[in-house]
Amino acid sequence: MGLKNTRARWGWPAKVFHWTMAALILALAVVGTYMANFLDDMFLQIELTQTHKSFGFVVFVLAGLRLLWRWINPAVPDLPGAPSAIERAGVKAAHVALYALMFVIPLSGWLMSSASPLNDVDAYPAQMKNMVFGLFEMPDPIQPGDDRLTEIFHTVHWVSVYLLAAILAVHVAAALKHHFVDRDEVLRRMLPGGRK
Ligand code: HEM
Ligand code: HEM
Repeated sequence: MGLKNTRARWGWPAKVFHWTMAALILALAVVGTYMANFLDDMFLQIELTQTHKSFGFVVFVLAGLRLLWRWINPAVPDLPGAPSAIERAGVKAAHVALYALMFVIPLSGWLMSSASPLNDVDAYPAQMKNMVFGLFEMPDPIQPGDDRLTEIFHTVHWVSVYLLAAILAVHVAAALKHHFVDRDEVLRRMLPGGRK
């Protein structure tokens, strides 16, 4: 399996980025929804939220590395058949939107957590701070204790997750259509090993 993308196939780093980030993002969306809306146990909620922030930080770093890799290695495999200009533009727009959301979702989570009153060490225990796996603290771009900003970034956080879910529904449906209806290599070439 090659390193770089070509007009015929994805290199292995693009595949590793795609599937590790897909698994992390989907898990964060499911666990995030559960911990924020369906959990009565406050201690478990604090634990889960701290883990959520840590893995969210990992997604943010991976998104930066992925974008950098995409920038120095811009080739993208051609769509099979003879896609129309509109089809090609649609696929491109969806992929650009997915890239944007990979940044907007963790960024809004971080800004919400920074602004939150729970991040104020004078009022709440230090274990509410925004730590990454207990190793180091995320910087605070906003003075903790701002309810209004917390609410705004919270709204951006969940609205962008819903937007992601809507685009992903189309993205996954398109991948499955390519595989089962058109019977082409689009899904296979993103899988490990895949098409040489
Ligand atoms: C791709 C990464 C991420 C995804 C998919 C994600 C997804 C979610 C979802 C779906 C919720 C539930 C929202 C609700 O129903 O109210 C949530 C809540 C939350 N997220 Fe994230 N998140 C991510 C990254 C982050 C990061 C990086 C942070 C902070 C550094 C963060 C902090 C939080 C907090 C504190 C909550 C609880 C909000 C509340 O109920 O008050 N998230 N997240
Ligand atoms: C879990 C189900 C998923 C499936 C079945 C899937 C399938 C695919 C396939 C087959 C491609 C290659 C398209 C081609 O070769 O032309 C692709 C590309 C892509 N996927 Fe997914 N995907 C999934 C989840 C995700 C998630 C969660 C994200 C990000 C939020 C994502 C973002 C992208 C992006 C940005 C591309 C363009 C390639 C690149 O520039 O890195 N996918 N996906």
